[in-house]
Amino acid sequence: MNPSEWIDIKEGDGHPVEHFVIPPHYSKDLDRVLVSHGLIRDRVEKLAHLIAKDSSKPLVACCVLKGAHVFFAQLMENLKKLKNAEGKSIPLSFEFIKAKSYENDKSSGQIKLSLSEEDLKSFKGKDLLIVEDIVDTGRTMVALVERLKQYEPASVRVVSLLLKKTDRSNRYVPDYVGFAIPDLFVVGYCLDYNEYFRDLDHIAVISEHGKKAYAV
Ligand code: HPA
Ligand code: MG
Repeated sequence: MNPSEWIDIKEGDGHPVEHFVIPPHYSKDLDRVLVSHGLIRDRVEKLAHLIAKDSSKPLVACCVLKGAHVFFAQLMENLKKLKNAEGKSIPLSFEFIKAKSYENDKSSGQIKLSLSEEDLKSFKGKDLLIVEDIVDTGRTMVALVERLKQYEPASVRVVSLLLKKTDRSNRYVPDYVGFAIPDLFVVGYCLDYNEYFRDLDHIAVISEHGKKAYAV
């Protein structure tokens, strides 16, 4: 996917929180809605079409927990109904990988991965699709892809719903990107701040009040 095919969200973009229905317990904790749930869903459908077009063999779709699970579910819901470029449906199997590196709004610099050796060995010769919610510094994804390649999959592709445009990036770019977003801390659609805000459907910018209210 070429960067011109990403939806580029600019620094000042977004909508007042009052224009949407949000859980009342977060009323003071959000600065603005950056990507509405409807737009996310439409974009996920398009990402599924792009992935299907490029797929010729069965796929092992690896969900990076916890943040990507809603994106993963919606992406698979679309993908299972689609055909590849040769008009064939794509057999899908699922794996779930836990990768955690954030505390408050800062990367802890340490990446914890969890997947059994048995599951990892089953990747040999398979086409992997890693499904991530957000690529920020790129460190988690580079570490994850490197680690998975040791198990000799036939191919590894990465889809991330969000790619953050940040100077802290290691320049890693996923194969498929839903939205390129400004360097702001975002929550919702299962993206969290210390485990909160996963129950918000839209992707929103957290407010200073929200950062304080849910700091650890
Ligand atoms: N929001 C939530 N989780 C994240 C972010 C973010 O902006 N960046 C990296 N992990
Ligand atoms: Mg993630």
